[in-house]
Amino acid sequence: MRITTCYTSESLLVEGGTRLRGRVRVSGSKNASLPILFATILTGERCVVEDVPVLLDVKNTLDLLTSLGAEVVWEGNTVQVDAGNLKRWNTPEDTVRRMRASILSMGPLLSRFGRAVVPMPGGCSIGPRPIDQHLKFFSEAGAKVEVKNGSVYLSVTRKRPVEFTFDLITVTGTENALLYLAGVEGKSVLRNVAVEPEVMDLVEVLRKMGAEIEVEGRTVLIKGTSAPKGFIHRVIPDRIEAGTLMVATVVTGGEVVLENVKPEHLGAVLEKIEEGGGAVEFSGKDSLRVRSNGRRRPMEIVTREYPGFPTDMQAQFTAMLSLAEGRSRVVETIFESRFHHVAELSKMGANIKVRGREAVIEGVERIFGAEVYSTDLRASASLVIAGLVAEGTTLIRNVYHLDRGYERLDEKLKKLGARIERLPSGVTLSGS
Ligand code: EPU
Repeated sequence: MRITTCYTSESLLVEGGTRLRGRVRVSGSKNASLPILFATILTGERCVVEDVPVLLDVKNTLDLLTSLGAEVVWEGNTVQVDAGNLKRWNTPEDTVRRMRASILSMGPLLSRFGRAVVPMPGGCSIGPRPIDQHLKFFSEAGAKVEVKNGSVYLSVTRKRPVEFTFDLITVTGTENALLYLAGVEGKSVLRNVAVEPEVMDLVEVLRKMGAEIEVEGRTVLIKGTSAPKGFIHRVIPDRIEAGTLMVATVVTGGEVVLENVKPEHLGAVLEKIEEGGGAVEFSGKDSLRVRSNGRRRPMEIVTREYPGFPTDMQAQFTAMLSLAEGRSRVVETIFESRFHHVAELSKMGANIKVRGREAVIEGVERIFGAEVYSTDLRASASLVIAGLVAEGTTLIRNVYHLDRGYERLDEKLKKLGARIERLPSGVTLSGS
């Protein structure tokens, strides 16, 4: 390959063909850390969040909190937030563009100040992603909700408890409602809520802050407090990172011990890993040993809300099934357009046909290195997995998508024996 220079973000160069071996620690969960960091807006007392992964979405969240007036200290994986002097309730314009999860500022800002102004998020590469359920909740909770000049304006004069049923199950919608109600006195009821482990981790934090919360199936009873307290909390391990590392291990025919995992959060993923050719066993407290059993079985996957198979693992399994012995079917029920990785995997020799929300994958014996583009976070992870098993070299462009949600994934894979290099911005390869 010839190296030339042009303007790109960082890239990864992956040399396929090594089996992953060794031990690796799974980082704290991104999707648990973000709502927990937003919970700090609710209180003037000091909050300490531990095992927060060092990644772009966390940095964006802390920048947002700082811009509102919070004092933030970020050392290693520990974040301290003191929002005692918070003086703004309008989330800066560009933060939502940089990170969709900024919409989680609505609930706690409205709860603390009785008002919030938050830029309206647009669609993103995985679909239109409306926030109608968030807004419907705030409206039924008695807030005035206006969308004007590209922002959502929320205000409430008297905070009161509410009974609300979501029309569909939404993770951040549930979190926004909980973040608001944790600061509202009286007994509220939320029905048809998301029960992802990340939502439950937020529930744990809100309890520490003084809210009384009971969860029964998809119903939450919450009694908020007018004076939420500070807290110390260690976030749960990232189940999607764990799943991604498991797929990478199985697909390369390797054997890896994953530390800092909660197997109980991984039920549907473990089932599919075992169905597809992995063997998984407990290896001590919070630790799993994963290895390939030498088979590459095709399967059917349908993404569902937790405890079903997570949409955030769909792309990684699609990469794995590209090499299965037969035909697989993957149905994406959560997001409208989450198959962008398929075009890139096809460049590597995968045989996948997408029709609407369904992908039919005819397993091939080999795939080959190519120059491919990341389109979103989990799509990037699927390309890394494909690169690990492809013949030859794969160049993955736009890895900032990967860095938004995985803490040093390339370094972790390297420690497990993968041949993977990070190329700085401005360098690209051609003539291969
Ligand atoms: N939806 C609506 N209206 C709403 C809210 C959601 O129609 O008001 C729809 C969405 O368009 C989607 C479905 O409901 O079709 C589920 O979306 P949800 O609201 O549950 O997704 P989210 O809260 O925006 C979180 C994670 C995603 C993860 C999904 C599903 C965070 C910060 N993000 O998104 O994580 O895929 O739940 O589990 O927690 C990722 O980490 O790569 C990622 C995209």
